[in-house]
Amino acid sequence: MACHGGSGYCATLDSSMSNSPPFIPFEPIQPDGDPLEAVEAFRDVLAQRRSIRHFSTKPVDLAIIDSIIAAAGTAPSGANKQPWRFVVVGDQATKRRIREAAENEERAFYEHRASSDWLEDLAPLQTGPEKPFLEEAPWLIVVFKLMRDDRANAVSERVYYVNESVGIATGMLLAAAQHAGLATLTHTPSPMGFLREVLGRPEYERPYVLIPIGWPAEACLVPDIERKPLKEIMVVHQHDEDQST
Ligand SMILES: Cc1cc2nc3c(=O)[nH]c(=O)nc-3n(C[C@H](O)[C@H](O)[C@H](O)COP(=O)(O)O)c2cc1C
Repeated sequence: MACHGGSGYCATLDSSMSNSPPFIPFEPIQPDGDPLEAVEAFRDVLAQRRSIRHFSTKPVDLAIIDSIIAAAGTAPSGANKQPWRFVVVGDQATKRRIREAAENEERAFYEHRASSDWLEDLAPLQTGPEKPFLEEAPWLIVVFKLMRDDRANAVSERVYYVNESVGIATGMLLAAAQHAGLATLTHTPSPMGFLREVLGRPEYERPYVLIPIGWPAEACLVPDIERKPLKEIMVVHQHDEDQST
């Protein structure tokens, strides 16, 4: 048995667990000043993130993309399986193939696959089957979810809560990109199986989302959308029932 940590919670560890890594002290970040102010400042930054559909062709250093993906790779995941792969595309020929295949699927989507409700919901965003941003953005990040753990040292090949895990990692990727001043679009050509073929990925890697990333085009406009107010998205259970009567 071993016990780590300071004055707070002290985990009881069983060193006989054969697959268990060593346990180390957790080091939380210390916000400068008031935690409420810190989170409010972070919230204000996140609130400025927008999906954009017009990118500048100005290059973005691959080192920035590396760091954004490394940030996404810190996400929590079911049983720490990290069931994601981020394929980064910067060459024009592959971007063109992806655009052509995406536009084929999107034409079918807008012409007959999408329900009338879906088209009505999309109408205010003024999206359509043309996807020039797939060639204009300097990089496309194609996020794949892994349907098996392919590491040589994996305890088992199974993966858990893959959609949840990859969704969280993708959200962190978007936030990291925004932190660098870059803009993104979360794009889901429907269906997007073609991405696996174009990028030569194995069968157990399934396309999850396609993210063009770059600097926004000059004078780029975005729809003036509303976000739900806090009272609509938050429900609080705070007070314990009075046990005294
Ligand atoms: C899972 C998901 C799929 C999306 N797919 C598309 C898409 O295929 N094409 C597109 O133009 N926008 C797509 N979007 C972007 C949404 O339209 C956008 O997030 C929403 O309108 C809110 O705008 P904001 O991102 O600027 O806050 C998608 C967003 C999410 C989260």
